[in-house]
Amino acid sequence: MTLTIGIDVGGTKVAGGVVDEQGNVLASNRRPTPADDPAGTRDTIVEVAAELVAQYPEAAAIGIGAAAWIDAAGSTVLFAPNLAWRDEPLQAYVSKATNLPVVLDNDANVAAWAEFRFGVAAHADSMVMITVGTGIGGAIVVNGQLWRGANGIAAELGHIQSVPDGHPCGCGRLGCLEQYASGNALVRFGRAGARQEPERAATLLGLAGGDALAITGRQITEAARAGDGVAMDAFAQVGYWLGVALADLAQSLDPQLMVIGGGVIDAGPLLMGPIERAYRDQLANRDRFPVAAIHAARMGNAAGVVGAADLARRA
Ligand code: BGC
Ligand code: NA
Ligand code: ZN
Repeated sequence: MTLTIGIDVGGTKVAGGVVDEQGNVLASNRRPTPADDPAGTRDTIVEVAAELVAQYPEAAAIGIGAAAWIDAAGSTVLFAPNLAWRDEPLQAYVSKATNLPVVLDNDANVAAWAEFRFGVAAHADSMVMITVGTGIGGAIVVNGQLWRGANGIAAELGHIQSVPDGHPCGCGRLGCLEQYASGNALVRFGRAGARQEPERAATLLGLAGGDALAITGRQITEAARAGDGVAMDAFAQVGYWLGVALADLAQSLDPQLMVIGGGVIDAGPLLMGPIERAYRDQLANRDRFPVAAIHAARMGNAAGVVGAADLARRA
């Protein structure tokens, strides 16, 4: 049984795990990401890997999924809208430091790979996935393989435009989906709504100690579950923009299924309901032709670690 290590590098944490061939996580660890410090981030990745190698010296390779745009060779971090990373030859660095082969890919790609191999898309042949977190990630699987594009940066679905001349995005564009449907956008909608209509946000404001600017994503989920109007609206807005984007993707790619991942799916029907509604409204003639169903991801928090480890095994 070959064991490999998967490492998921996000804006807030670097999570690692030792993973077996069935996608089981045998050991895991995590550290905060020093997000403003690319050298520190790189060294945190090496430390996380080294700790796991110490526990499982037989680990044969390392897979890294990073919240960044990776070049076609899988060697260099080109750019990251929400991290300070630019032009970093990460693969060679980690490989040299750990003396193991390293596979480097995008965080949403590796999470989608985990769903495709072991999760909700295990029986599919093609899928589109959108991950909703600090940013919005995307992945496209075609004929059983991740579609990486000519330059490695295919499926950057967070940066397709939702609103012409809309909110500025970390990628340099205006009105990206990420600005209207990410975890950050959810918080922005919740805070703005609570300031505009405090009486409809009584539960939400209560959770945030009365301060609209202190509202967090978790509080929005909790308040929405309790029926708070503003919190439910925040999910409805995020869900609307996701549903519209998924309709465009169904129209352009016609995948077997669509998957939504990330912490926000804990909100269940509060999010999936508005997504479904917008998707169906957009594809109003849907009764004339079949379209992909939308599913919530199933692999949870470990998706990135499991997917990265599996890609490393196959490389
Ligand atoms: C980045 C993607 C990443 C996503 C989720 C986006 O802003 O452009 O590369 O997959 O955030 O972390
Ligand atoms: Na991607
Ligand atoms: Zn963008």
